[in-house]
Amino acid sequence: MIKTGIEAMSFYTPHRYISLATLAEKHGIDPEKFSRGIGQEKIALPGHDEDIVTMAAEAARPLIDRYGTEGIDTVLFATETGIDQSKAAGIYVHRLLGLPANCRNVELKQACYSATPALQLACSYVARRPDRKVLVIASDVARYDRESSGEATQGAGAVAMLISADPKLLEIGAVSGLFSEDIMDFWRPNHRRTPLFDGKFSTLRYLNALIEAWRDYGENGGKAYEDFARFCYHLPFSRMGEKAHRHLAKSAKASLDMEMALPGMLYNRVVGNSYTASIYLALISTLENSEDDLTGKSIGLFSYGSGATGEFFDATVVSGYQEHLFTQHHQAILEDRVPVSYEDYVELWGAPVAKDGEELTFEVEARGRYRLAGINDHKRIYVDTRA
Ligand code: HMG
Repeated sequence: MIKTGIEAMSFYTPHRYISLATLAEKHGIDPEKFSRGIGQEKIALPGHDEDIVTMAAEAARPLIDRYGTEGIDTVLFATETGIDQSKAAGIYVHRLLGLPANCRNVELKQACYSATPALQLACSYVARRPDRKVLVIASDVARYDRESSGEATQGAGAVAMLISADPKLLEIGAVSGLFSEDIMDFWRPNHRRTPLFDGKFSTLRYLNALIEAWRDYGENGGKAYEDFARFCYHLPFSRMGEKAHRHLAKSAKASLDMEMALPGMLYNRVVGNSYTASIYLALISTLENSEDDLTGKSIGLFSYGSGATGEFFDATVVSGYQEHLFTQHHQAILEDRVPVSYEDYVELWGAPVAKDGEELTFEVEARGRYRLAGINDHKRIYVDTRA
């Protein structure tokens, strides 16, 4: 059987953040509630000239620079922060990256989950066409109402993955455990910029979906709990991953070893929720922050999107994977960031919206190569500053 999976993956997050200690001080909350109770330290904040498209292009750029565009004939863009009801955000990215014109392009949505079906569809496709590659991108801005319980769990980021029949990082297993149910735990109607949600209920449904998907995974011939060296979870906040891991270990009647999940939480703690990108940020964090050699080891992944769908699947780490990581690049992105004051956070939070075709021009805030220069006549104007 043809092996398919992730040839390479890279992430991007904006260069500004608000520390949760700042938020706690402003709201008179014990900072330990955020650092320990929620398990988060920072919230990544895009500038007005950054969005899902610019973050996606930044995330994918290193993959294109190292592996080229040859063979890429499909872009699957997963997001729940859509910028247009019709046009796929990936089409802008396709141009910014200079991808071949003979390429298909589509956007996928199911809350935080949609990068996972994108990955699965891509693996099936390259099994049929091993000479082709698929660029899967997950990009989101998690923005909740200020002073709501979700405020501390905001964030922003993108992950790009090159899927091929030559997986240099991770081979994706064929067995999945699936679970869907129609619930209102978190949703965002078209007229709203921020989601509506039932926070506590959502955490309980997440845990239920995990157990249901895990059970289905087992019934379909999946691996046993003991076969896994690491677990990665969708991380709306890192404490959710701890709860998930405890829940899964208990359900599998296995002894709890939190070290199996902790390396995957390091990047997410300082980025915040990046919705569709979150579990794949956790996967990058696992590969880049595990001290031992993971060659040949299995990683269990649980992807969750409110509304709700959950999927449990597995990946096997490929020999030589270390040579295909972007660890230094990623650590530089995280280390070179700057904190903002509460007042600046409030300003960034209220990103301007162009109404009725008015012209908006954005100041240069993005530090990356790609930016949203403005919006005019209902059209978003993206620029490559090196072109
Ligand atoms: P909350 O009301 O702010 O917090 O809601 P809390 O009072 O429940 O406290 C949180 C934890 O901090 C508790 O621990 C407290 O005990 C602890 P737990 O009971 O959970 O073990 N705590 C402290 N710890 C140390 N020192 C202290 C202290 N004080 C309290 N001083 C909630 C928390 C997660 C509900 C909220 O942040 C929220 O609504 N978030 C948004 C929704 C969300 O993230 N849901 C997650 C599951 S759904 C999902 O993952 C999908 C999603 O990503 C969207 C999508 O799919 O598109 C959200």
